[in-house]
Amino acid sequence: MDNSNKKNYSSLRTVEWKNNKVVMIDQTKLPNELVFVEYDNFNQVADAIKTLVVRGAPAIGVSGAFGLALAVLQSKATTKDELISDLEEAKKILFATRPTAVNLGWGLEKIMNVAKSGNSVEEIRELVISEAKKMADEDIEINKSMGKNGSELFDNNDTIMTHCNAGALATVAYGTALGVIRATRENGKNVKVIATETRPVQQGSRLTVFELKHDGFDVSLIPDTAVGYSMANGLVNKVVVGADRIVKTGHVFNKIGTYQVATMAKQHGIPFYVAAPLSTIDLESKAEDVIIEMRKSSEVTGVGDKKTAPDDINVINPAFDMTPPELISGIITEKGVAKPPYEESIPKLFEAN
Ligand code: MRU
Repeated sequence: MDNSNKKNYSSLRTVEWKNNKVVMIDQTKLPNELVFVEYDNFNQVADAIKTLVVRGAPAIGVSGAFGLALAVLQSKATTKDELISDLEEAKKILFATRPTAVNLGWGLEKIMNVAKSGNSVEEIRELVISEAKKMADEDIEINKSMGKNGSELFDNNDTIMTHCNAGALATVAYGTALGVIRATRENGKNVKVIATETRPVQQGSRLTVFELKHDGFDVSLIPDTAVGYSMANGLVNKVVVGADRIVKTGHVFNKIGTYQVATMAKQHGIPFYVAAPLSTIDLESKAEDVIIEMRKSSEVTGVGDKKTAPDDINVINPAFDMTPPELISGIITEKGVAKPPYEESIPKLFEAN
């Protein structure tokens, strides 16, 4: 299916519901081409999540919800029970795509609950589609509130390091970590950004630098191996990253390499912040139970299509790592900033709801 079309660079909305289809930026093509893809089948959305056409915890949460919205339209069910059973099947397929970000399960569950509250096939169709659209719109509002809360922690002339992409491209729009940086600038503070390249699939160079440059930020790209150099030489004075899952003890699961950045920040006395919505906080799981996604070896044995390692070698390619709470200066959310001890401050964020 070639239903992609190109648009100009001014419309950076990662995922959207348009004319009963899901429209998303194909992030595998960035930064060389800004291509939008359209899907009318939930299996296509599942595939897009798996292959990183869409990625980033909040963006895959909303994409999962839109996947179910497509599933209600695809279903030939004539009774509520049949439709719920079709949706359960679609949910299973969407859920199986990526295991670490809790937002995916959160988004799917939220839609299933709404679906079950409907009485007829028609009512369920309307409820599911409108809830998924609402979830997408709310994501932007949540990011803006998070940005406002986080911007208080940053000062004029700060140089802020970030890892991976926790920006507009990882959410519906605006971003979590990059949302905080955007809000800091909107508050009249002048900030610079240092973005890590983020091997193996380079969300930092391909996506973060792309979107910050697009929005006129002063951004410098560094290889992942220059984190220590940048901190030791006073090039950075704060760090902010996103998260895929945060458990109630304050252990943060985020893109592989985050733990190294946080450890290095501690070594150099540099504040290390995490920005994430409450939908990324998993109050149920223990840190040791969180599944770290292992990805294919070709991501490491090559850069893009170019092979950079010999054939037939063993590769270890975890997509995420865990940063322990003692390395984290604060967790920025739409409901405020949690400070250590997290076991006390994280539950309070939910009480404030
Ligand atoms: O593998 P990815 O690109 O989905 O990983 C994304 C990250 O690790 C982000 O930092 C995280 O999802 C937060 S996005 C607001």
